[in-house]
Amino acid sequence: MQKATVVVKKITAEDTIAVRHPVLRAGRPKEDCYFQGDDLKTTVHFGIYDNDKLAGVATFLDSKFPTFEGRHLQLRGMAVLDEFKGRGFGKRLLEAGEELAKKKKINLIWCNARILAVPFYEKLDFKKIGASFEIPKVGIHFVMYKQISNTFDSC
Ligand SMILES: CC(C)(COP(=O)(O)OP(=O)(O)OC[C@H]1O[C@@H](n2cnc3c(N)ncnc32)[C@H](O)[C@@H]1OP(=O)(O)O)[C@@H](O)C(=O)NCCC(=O)NCCS
Repeated sequence: MQKATVVVKKITAEDTIAVRHPVLRAGRPKEDCYFQGDDLKTTVHFGIYDNDKLAGVATFLDSKFPTFEGRHLQLRGMAVLDEFKGRGFGKRLLEAGEELAKKKKINLIWCNARILAVPFYEKLDFKKIGASFEIPKVGIHFVMYKQISNTFDSC
């Protein structure tokens, strides 16, 4: 029997919709699944595949969060299909984003975290900042961030 393979790779904005739609925008039109900045050259979309089946997605956009110094990535569209949850796929996608941040010498990743996803981000060393706020049609969120590095030495 063939061994199961799980790989993370870069995908297109269009590819993400197959997961964003059922997980993040269920019951809403597909058009609601596209984010501003999805097609920018600087935006990176990652997909995690389990035996060639796209199981989860995450998008990282160059976007500065005003409170912090330095250069930042915003994580958007973090989603894992129900049948693949709890297998470390979300973690693998975040790790891919952290590697990307290091390569780009970006010192912080932030996101608007749904209240239900806060414990997931906390587990991966993200911290909450500020009060909760409501995003219409989606629900209560917190801004969360993870410091990747304070400085990047030149080599
Ligand atoms: C949040 C989400 C991406 C997590 O993906 P996942 O693949 O199930 O998470 P992982 O298996 O990688 O979990 C990583 C760690 O976080 C923990 N974790 C995951 N979800 C958790 C939760 N809801 N509460 C507490 N801990 C959680 C896991 O136990 C695991 O810990 P471990 O390393 O000690 O075993 C997924 O549940 C999801 O798509 N949710 C719906 C969409 C959503 O809310 N997205 C976030 C939008 S801001």
